[in-house]
Amino acid sequence: MERVLEPELMDDPVQALAYARADFEEENQGFVDRFVEFYPEFKAGHVLDLGCGPADIPIRLARKLPESRITGVDGSAPMIAIGQEAIRAAGLADRIALRCERFQNIVLSERADAVISNSLLHHVPNPLQFWYEVKKLARPGAVVLVMDLLRPESEEAAHALVDKYAADEPAVLRRDFYNSLLASFTEDDVAAQLAEMNLTRLLIDVPDDRHWIVGGRLT
Ligand SMILES: C[S@@+](CC[C@H](N)C(=O)[O-])C[C@H]1O[C@@H](n2cnc3c(N)ncnc32)[C@H](O)[C@@H]1O
Repeated sequence: MERVLEPELMDDPVQALAYARADFEEENQGFVDRFVEFYPEFKAGHVLDLGCGPADIPIRLARKLPESRITGVDGSAPMIAIGQEAIRAAGLADRIALRCERFQNIVLSERADAVISNSLLHHVPNPLQFWYEVKKLARPGAVVLVMDLLRPESEEAAHALVDKYAADEPAVLRRDFYNSLLASFTEDDVAAQLAEMNLTRLLIDVPDDRHWIVGGRLT
């Protein structure tokens, strides 16, 4: 099945709120646990989260790594507003900063020690822009953890995944999940992107029936 693009930013307030209210605990905590498992030596430093959405992953990571500092970047103003409120409620405003910008426009005063991103790449029309920015924004030796959806083989397979994992979710979320599956990349696509960007030290894995994950250290 060919990739079908979806809008880059989630800047509809209704869509942002539905996303923020959805239960991504297993996926988001799994992402954070994987970061700690892959990089047990990473205790302190500056982590950049590209496409941070409502900041659930930055909050979970900040709790797990109490000496870290996190910058979340998202181009959607409603997402950033929801994230700011969540960070304030979590009492983590001294360690998590959010920036309402497209990641393509981000300029950092110092390159990050880690770059993470969950569920952003499928929104991006040109995925090479994303990997280019990862290289540019992270220092040599920085750790990387990127996860996203895996494009199914057919529309029927995408519908089946929506039914399996989002049966009880509101219609807006089911629609977004379906569109995101169609906009996402296959394992081969991502491997080709990494090769083209000379990021072959990063390794790709497929941990379940709907995700790929890329991790490793930059040279
Ligand atoms: C599916 S959400 C994932 C949010 C979060 N990472 C999570 O796992 O809960 C994707 C987010 O990426 C943001 N986004 C899409 N394109 C972007 C871009 N070019 N720059 C910054 N943020 C972007 C969207 O606005 C949206 O909030």
